[in-house]
Amino acid sequence: MKVVDLDRDMSDVIPTGTTLDSEFLFERMTSATIELARTGEGKRVLDVASGFGQDALQIAENGSYVIGCEPSLRMLAWARLKGEEAAKESGSQADWVQGWGDALPFATGSFDAAFCKGALDHFDCPGEAIAEMARVTALDGRVVLAIANFESLACRLARALDDVREDLLGKPIRRGRRHYDVPADHFTRYELALMKEQMGQFVEIEEIRGVSLLWGFPKWTQNVGKLPKPVAERLLRFFDWIARKLPSFADVIVLAGRPKLTTRNL
Ligand SMILES: C[S@@+](CC[C@H](N)C(=O)[O-])C[C@H]1O[C@@H](n2cnc3c(N)ncnc32)[C@H](O)[C@@H]1O
Repeated sequence: MKVVDLDRDMSDVIPTGTTLDSEFLFERMTSATIELARTGEGKRVLDVASGFGQDALQIAENGSYVIGCEPSLRMLAWARLKGEEAAKESGSQADWVQGWGDALPFATGSFDAAFCKGALDHFDCPGEAIAEMARVTALDGRVVLAIANFESLACRLARALDDVREDLLGKPIRRGRRHYDVPADHFTRYELALMKEQMGQFVEIEEIRGVSLLWGFPKWTQNVGKLPKPVAERLLRFFDWIARKLPSFADVIVLAGRPKLTTRNL
C-alpha cells in the first residue's frame, strides 16, 4: 500500500518568486525536454508527473495531443482549469489522468513520446516508472527524462568548499540543507551514472544533454543578479553551452532514447 498525499501541491518546492539564474535553468530544462521528445503536429505525447500541467499545455499549443498523468488531485484540478482556458483560446488538446508513474493506465505503445521532467527523484519506484514509460511508448518513439544532477560542478565545488571550511579550518557546520543535500521529498540522489544505469535497462539511450552550470553555488544567484541583464544572460548561455558538452557537470541532465524491446512491450 502506498502512503501518499494526494492533495500535494508543489508551491513549497517550486520557487514562486524566482531569480534570473533559476528562470534560465527552468526554461532551458523545459525547452531541452520538449525538443528531445520531438513533439509537434499530430504527435501523441505523455507527460508523466505533469504537476500543474504547464509543460503539457505548452506542447499542446504546438499541435500535439497531450495527456498529463499525475497522482495529486490538487495539481490535476489546477491543470484542468488552465487546460480549459487554453482550449477555449487556441483549441489546444490536453487531457488529464490521475495515475502513478509505476503503473501507467495506458495501453502498450500508445504514445509517440513520453517524458518526465524534474520528478523521477520524487518517485518511490523510479525504475518501474521508466519501464512503464518505455512500455507505453511506441518502439520508434521517444522516452525523455530530465533530472537534477547531485554531482553537478556546483554541488562538487560547494561540497569541497564546505569540507575545507569545516575539516581544515574547524568552522561550525552550517545549519539547514545545503543545496548539494538531497531534499526530504526525494527518494533518489541522481547523478549521470545512475541515470544511465536505470534508464538503460529499458531505453536505448540516444542523446544525453547537460543543462545549465553552477546553479545553487553559494552567492551565484546574487552575483548573477548584480550583473547587467544582457551580460548575465550571455554568461548563463555560455555556461549552458559548457554544460551541454559536459553533462556530468550540468545542473540538470536530459536523457532521451527509444524503448528497448522487452516482454512488456510485445
Ligand atoms: C517537482 S514536481 C514536477 C512537476 C512537473 N513535471 C514540472 O516539471 O513542473 C514532482 C511531481 O511528481 C509527482 N509524483 C510524485 N511521486 C510520483 C509517482 N510515484 N508517480 C507519478 N508522479 C509522482 C508529484 O505529485 C509532483 O507533481
